[in-house]
Amino acid sequence: MDSKEFAKAVIGESNRRGKQLAEDVFDADDTITGDDLIPMLQGFMWSEFYLGVIPPVRVMSMLYDGAWDIDPSNIDIMLGLGDQIRDEVKHSKLFSRRVEELGGDPNVIHYEPTDEDLFLLERTADWDEPIEIVTALNCAGEPALAEAFKAIMEKDIVDPRTKDVIHKAKIDEGNHINLGKKVLERFATDEETQERVWEIVDLKFEAAYEFHGKQMDSMSRPDRYAQAGTSDD
Ligand SMILES: [Fe+2]
Ligand SMILES: [Fe+2]
Repeated sequence: MDSKEFAKAVIGESNRRGKQLAEDVFDADDTITGDDLIPMLQGFMWSEFYLGVIPPVRVMSMLYDGAWDIDPSNIDIMLGLGDQIRDEVKHSKLFSRRVEELGGDPNVIHYEPTDEDLFLLERTADWDEPIEIVTALNCAGEPALAEAFKAIMEKDIVDPRTKDVIHKAKIDEGNHINLGKKVLERFATDEETQERVWEIVDLKFEAAYEFHGKQMDSMSRPDRYAQAGTSDD
């Protein structure tokens, strides 16, 4: 398949799966208030930094070949990754400030990641090829997160002040997803790479279900999502 068409198909499919995830996990009857909000927001504070910053940093270092061998054709991607890192640091701080307002520990160093947090990080960052990492973060994770944020806001799961913070963390996602699309258009040019991209999308969504499912079932509804991420279509 032509890589432009392919990139469009991947983002379209991730948007569809992200909407499904949001529908499966976030219930309009749920509200999370006060102290119960703190672990969720600390999880976002941690994931904005660890998932948002470390994977682009890894990709940048993989694309860098040394001072005399800089490939000017990929500088736009390097710049996009730099912008993304700036944005994700800002998002982490936004969540951290809200945690502090609610009386929680706002220091990302003190946060102890859950198994689901670490599984999501592994499925985002622990790949060997730039295209695998960009697929996991920008082409699957960010569409899923954008839909999750949208559902949390639209279903009034959190208070207005927290909604405002989530809104501010969501507005940059479009740029990050477009960066992922550009990487697929440029590098997913053969069938083997395209097959690998679909595999990574599956693997990432499995972890995204566990991550968001855990956030919500720590509120009230245990084990409801245990199988939700594993269906194949
Ligand atoms: Fe972010
Ligand atoms: Fe992002």
